[in-house]
Amino acid sequence: MSDLRRRAVFAGIGTYLPEQIVTNAQMAERVDTSDDWIVERTGIRQRHFAAPHETAAFMGAEAGRKALEAAGLAPEKLGAIIVGTSTPDNAFPSTAVQIQGALGAKAAFGFDLAAACSGFIYGLSVADAMIRAGQVESVLVIGSEVYSRILNFEDRGTCVLFGDGAGAMLLVARDVPADGPGVLSSHLHADGSLGEILYVDGAVGRPDKPGHLVMNGREVFRHAVTLLAGAVSETLAASGLEATDIDWLVPHQANRRIIDGVGKKLGLPPERVVVTVDLHANTSAASIPLAFAHAYEAGKIQPGQLVLLEALGGGLTWGAALLRL
Ligand code: UT7
Repeated sequence: MSDLRRRAVFAGIGTYLPEQIVTNAQMAERVDTSDDWIVERTGIRQRHFAAPHETAAFMGAEAGRKALEAAGLAPEKLGAIIVGTSTPDNAFPSTAVQIQGALGAKAAFGFDLAAACSGFIYGLSVADAMIRAGQVESVLVIGSEVYSRILNFEDRGTCVLFGDGAGAMLLVARDVPADGPGVLSSHLHADGSLGEILYVDGAVGRPDKPGHLVMNGREVFRHAVTLLAGAVSETLAASGLEATDIDWLVPHQANRRIIDGVGKKLGLPPERVVVTVDLHANTSAASIPLAFAHAYEAGKIQPGQLVLLEALGGGLTWGAALLRL
């Protein structure tokens, strides 16, 4: 008898970025900021901003379609769609079910998951658990965000930091040996007592408020490196691994200084840390699949390699996951 276990295995990735690119210099025409300040404090050089038709559902469907094509899975065969988003088109139907309709994924169920910038890690964790439980054979995990619609363009401390986009990863059930591919573990955390340091001050349930992103950046920064390094260490320990075993760290792309800080705490050389914050800025739940795709499509992330994902966002929520390709 062979010793196999069911795992959620990476099968394909797809992305969508809005056509419009906005540089730091263009942001400086709107608010009192400068390219120098933004680059020095965050590493961001540009972001994509969505046109009216480029909604979370539209971009998520485009990314999802590409992930299915890359994996060679027909949409009708897909089992489920989980979307991390804070910027859905509608209160309902969920973004996931709108994407299901757009893709013609007739057999799939779907739901949205609200965990702000940790949405992709949370979604991946839920997908992994459902696949290992035998409930579903394939899941599209999508992060899709249009933060340009919730930014306060009067607040230079936040509006220069975020961008729009979507990324989708297809996970499929496979029975594999212990050293085979798949999600090895994922670890989720939250601390609601820190809700006031990063939030959106409204939603459809509060019609008095349009809802803008509000952040105490210094406080978020203060917690980020410690909490993220803790989640990464916990994830490595769960698989009996050391940071030196990791081929790639694919972190949430909020700030170059946070990314470097976590890499340094783990003793990871910078060339093994994927950075796309310069190109995309912070795309919240979309940032990890966008960064992953960037490295994967460049031929950097390769079959057999160990990839560690981590994110922290509003809630606070944070978590990490380890994936062997
Ligand atoms: O994805 C969710 C997680 N979010 C994050 O991880 C964000 C975490 N926080 C950060 O990335 C950083 O705290 C920021 C990039 C938001 C800010 O960087 P900082 O080094 O913490 O700057 P600061 O907030 O301490 O502000 C320093 C100065 C202030 O001026 P004074 O008071 O020293 O005169 C700000 O008013 O920079 C000023 N400032 C700006 N100046 C030019 C703030 N925003 C800007 C701006 N352009 N856009």
